[in-house]
This record gives sequence, structure tokens and C-alpha cells, in this order.
Amino acid sequence: MKLHKQDIYKALESISAPGEGQNMVESGAVKNVVTFADEVIVDITINNPSLQAKKKTEVEIMKAIHDKVYEKAKITVNVKVEAPAKSLANSIKGKAIPGIQNIVAVASGKGGVGKSTVTANLAVTLAQMGFKVGILDADIYGPSVPIMFDVEQERPLAVNIDGKSKMKPVENYGVKILSIGFFTQPNQAVVWRGPMAAKALNQMIFDAHWGELDFMLIDLPPGTGDIHLSIMQSLPITGAVIVSTPQNVALADARKGVAMFQQESINVPVLGIIENMAYFTPEELPENKYYIFGKEGAKNLAEDLKVPFLGQLPLVQSIREAGDVGRPAAMQTATPLQAAFEKITQNVVQEVVRRNDDLPPTEAIKITTMAGCSAVKK
Ligand SMILES: Nc1ncnc2c1ncn2[C@@H]1O[C@H](COP(=O)(O)OP(=O)(O)OP(=O)(O)O)[C@@H](O)[C@H]1O
Ligand SMILES: [Mg+2]
Repeated sequence: MKLHKQDIYKALESISAPGEGQNMVESGAVKNVVTFADEVIVDITINNPSLQAKKKTEVEIMKAIHDKVYEKAKITVNVKVEAPAKSLANSIKGKAIPGIQNIVAVASGKGGVGKSTVTANLAVTLAQMGFKVGILDADIYGPSVPIMFDVEQERPLAVNIDGKSKMKPVENYGVKILSIGFFTQPNQAVVWRGPMAAKALNQMIFDAHWGELDFMLIDLPPGTGDIHLSIMQSLPITGAVIVSTPQNVALADARKGVAMFQQESINVPVLGIIENMAYFTPEELPENKYYIFGKEGAKNLAEDLKVPFLGQLPLVQSIREAGDVGRPAAMQTATPLQAAFEKITQNVVQEVVRRNDDLPPTEAIKITTMAGCSAVKK
């Protein structure tokens, strides 16, 4: 049996490309087809990095060729993932600071609703998608990013860049990390004042060697007080993501969080709201949903405040466990959780793109002295 290239292409035309209304050949995903007697090799490029997507593409191609061309064809499919970062490279370009395209703050208002968990999972998902990502853990009360990335014992090294000593962020799972926890003693109570915190964070951004980053995520401490004002005003933040549970007390604080970013002296665009712990799903009954904190509260809040709703995350034991062992849940490939984090991350990226298209970069106020409160507009 001799296979012909054009028959293979014809078979591949029956497979639709994701979300584009085109088939696989039209979308340009098929890079090469080689036939040799009853063997065929298909080179394909997709831009969804999940294992699930790779597997699905492979199965679809095999099925199409077996069904439509020759049922005994020996098929090799080479799937190459072209990171969406590449196709999005131009549109995600923000101008936060040189080298760092976008700074996204993750905030909540209320404590314990899952800011750090969301930050960690957003970061690993962005990295899996091919973006260059860093996290600045700004939680002066209880930095938890080092634990969530299993780098608690590590410390940033000093590197010499153009004659200046800079901090080199710690790295794990493709994410660069600096945390206020690397510089404080675990059991030592540190009383921070706003300008001090802002100064420390400024140093972790400007006196560190982050290299090129598409996204820097800032995990903020809970609250909407004075300290937040100082932090927000001193950093050129592209946009803020608000995390809330559907519970009324959390929603009230999330509302304050949104208002804080939108107030005139801060003026940071709100990219949207993520509903965490939207429902509880027991591991052994994955189809069951229990709305223990109320249903769709954060979704309704987003509608009410006219800010984008970025998606829901379930309350599941594996998210908590993954945080505790230092390997974010979104890294477990081909799971519903990974898919949920992927969806939310795509929505965040989309909102960043939209924001950069529509609005000028956010202005920051430069903190000039550490102890005093004097701050001057740049
Ligand atoms: N969707 C979820 N499912 C299960 N556990 C979760 C989920 N989200 C967060 N948690 C757990 O809830 C706890 C609080 O989460 P996290 O530390 O992310 O909240 P936070 O808002 O950053 O808190 P803080 O205000 O103290 O900084 C952690 O133990 C975390 O593992
Ligand atoms: Mg936290």
C-alpha cells in the first residue's frame, strides 16, 4: 500500500482547529506530512500546552487517517507546542518598567480567601503557557509564597550586574520569586509602616535582577489600609485581580478592594474578580457541588461593579494539600483543576491585553526616603 500526501491532507481537513472555525490544515497547524509506503509522519503545532490537548490532537489525527485513508497506516504524530506567549508576544506588551511588561497585583480585602493560592497557580499556569513569570510576595504579615513553591529554605543570591550588586530571585517551576519572607525572621514580629513596606518592595523590584518578565504577579497582604495605599501608589501596577469567596463578609471586603484600586489617588485598573472556594467538591464525588459559602456571590459582585468575572475555583482538598507541599495544584496535568486554572489564566491574560490596548501605563509615586513619609510624583 502506497500512501499519498494529498490524501493525508484531505483527511486532516476533516479535523477542526480549536475555536477558530477553521480546519487543522487551514489554521496552519499542520507543518509537514511525509509518506513512505504505508507509513506517514505528521508534524503539527498547537498552542495549548496541556497534555490533554496534545493527546487529543494525536488521537484525532490517527483516527482521521485510519478512517479516511487506510486503516492499517502506521502513523507517527509529532506534536510541537508553540506557546501562546509567542502568538501573544506583541499584544501583552505593557510598559510597567523596563524588562517587566506587566505587573499584576492579586488582592482581596479579606484575609484567607486564597490570594496566595491563586497567585501561585496563576504563575505556574502562565509559565506552562510559555510566559516569563515572576512573583513578588508582598505579604508583610505572613508571606506564604516560599512555602507554596517549596523554596522556604532558600535565599536570593547577590549578582553583579554592570558593576551593581543585585538580588537574584529564587526560581522554581519556571517562576522567579522574591518574598519579603526571605528577608525577615519567621518568628519575628515586624511592624511595618506604609512607606517602609513600599520602599522594601521597590527594592525587590528595582534592585533585583529579574531579567525579562512578561508578568510579575504581586501577592498582596490582606486588607485595604494605609499600608496598601503606600504599596499601590509606589508601584507601577498594570492591573489588579481581586480574589473573593462567595461569602457575604468576603464580598463586602472585596468591594472595598475594588474601590481602593479605583480611587483617584491610586487609579489601577481592576482586571476582574476570581471566585475562590465557589463550591465544595469531595474527592470521591467529583460531580457533586456544595455551595457552602453561598452561590455565585463573587460573580454577582463582578456584575454589580461592572468589572470582568474571571472564573470560579472549587474548594477541594488537593488545592490545599498542593499548597502545603509546595507544588501548586495547577501543575497536575490533565486534571479538571488544571483546566480551571488554565481558563482563569487565559481570562487574566485577555484582560491585560485589553487594558494595554485601551489605557496608558499606570503612574507610580516614587518613595524617596525610607523613614519619612515624603513621596514625590515621578
Ligand atoms: N480553592 C481552594 N481549595 C482548598 N483550599 C484552598 C483553596 N484556596 C485556598 N485554600 C487554602 O486556604 C488557605 C488560605 O489560602 P491562602 O493562603 O491562599 O489565602 P490568602 O488570601 O493568601 O490568605 P492571607 O490573607 O493570609 O494572605 C490555605 O491553607 C490554602 O491552601
Ligand atoms: Mg496570602
